[in-house]
Amino acid sequence: MIVNRTVRLVTTALIVTALTPISASRGQQAKLTSPTCTPSSVLGTPPLGKLATARGVLVGSAVNDSALATDPAYACVLGTEFNMVEPENSMKFAATEPAPGVFDFTRADVIVAFAKLHHQSVRCHNLVWNLFNPNWLTSATFTKQQALAALSNHIAKVVGHFRSKCSQWDVVNEPIGPSGTGLAPSPWLKWIGPSYINLAFTYAHRADPNARLYLNDYDFNGNGVRTRSLVSLAVSLRRAGVPIDGVGLQLHSIQSPARSAFLSQQMATAAAARLSVAMTEVDYAIALPVNTTALVAEANYFSDLLSTCLAATNCRTFNIWGFEDQYSWIPGFFTGYGAGTPLDAHLNPKPAWQALRVALSTK
Ligand code: G3I
Repeated sequence: MIVNRTVRLVTTALIVTALTPISASRGQQAKLTSPTCTPSSVLGTPPLGKLATARGVLVGSAVNDSALATDPAYACVLGTEFNMVEPENSMKFAATEPAPGVFDFTRADVIVAFAKLHHQSVRCHNLVWNLFNPNWLTSATFTKQQALAALSNHIAKVVGHFRSKCSQWDVVNEPIGPSGTGLAPSPWLKWIGPSYINLAFTYAHRADPNARLYLNDYDFNGNGVRTRSLVSLAVSLRRAGVPIDGVGLQLHSIQSPARSAFLSQQMATAAAARLSVAMTEVDYAIALPVNTTALVAEANYFSDLLSTCLAATNCRTFNIWGFEDQYSWIPGFFTGYGAGTPLDAHLNPKPAWQALRVALSTK
């Protein structure tokens, strides 16, 4: 059944029996300050985020900031169905420091304010990455001292701006090299050497001692090599006294066809070093057109991962990389693939949505 992308917005002055339906066609200005809204009942009650809170876990989604600004139906579901949000792109280096020493938090501030209004935790992404950097940075020829100054200033300003608003930060994103071992080529590695990672964590901790700090990566081909390297790097940082709190496993199916038993083993290794694990970017790319078999496989993927997280002592964060198919990054990056999130492009639940609800309700 296809349900129109429609939400009901209500003000606090209205009671539930006097809902005012609005059509949420694209291009309308979203009412980000709307105190409450009711998404289509097909998503189930209580909302997913309430089920998550009852289990003591954070279940969130990456946020596409332009969708949030223009699509009220998107904003409604995001605000009511999750207890955590994570800016998909608007906290990245190119977004926050577009010119040297010039900071712009406009896009990210909207998401943080939205989260506050909806009592959601914010997972912040990311401070250091070898991609999505501004031209001024990629074309720079820094000395080590200049690079240290640029890195420490960036982290101090960005983490400082969001101090006490980010429950978690991906401090270094995708540090592992392309073969799954060693470190990925990065401007910071070139200028500073491997200690750029330790330093990034130290700077972030200094700017917000209460934020939990993560090393985040994917596992190309799911052969485990990259995840092992990631966990072992995190453990060695922890043993060296670096203020790291956890490991982020991205878990995009197209990069990381995850195996639950292997993940449980890696989570136990992390736990032994008193490190948390967060599942940070879960999605499941389907070869289009969608068919029932693929939708069932997608549901199993989400369900297995969430259940694996819930079964571990140190996994209390489960984040999906977009909650609905219209704005997902997958079709833009992988031709012929899409439908990787639990809701379809009309915000109708797919089997994966129900699978998440069942996993959260099953002890
Ligand atoms: O905002 C510009 C827009 O002005 C321009 O017209 C358009 C033309 O292509 O590009 C827009 O920017 C794009 C941006 O997404 C917003 O849509 C960038 O080109 C594009 O590179 C960027 O892709 C993002 C990618 O990270 C690179 O930063 C994806 O949305 C985002 O989903 C993806 O997320 C990453 C995580 O950060 C790390 N883990 C892997 C994950 C998937 O690749």
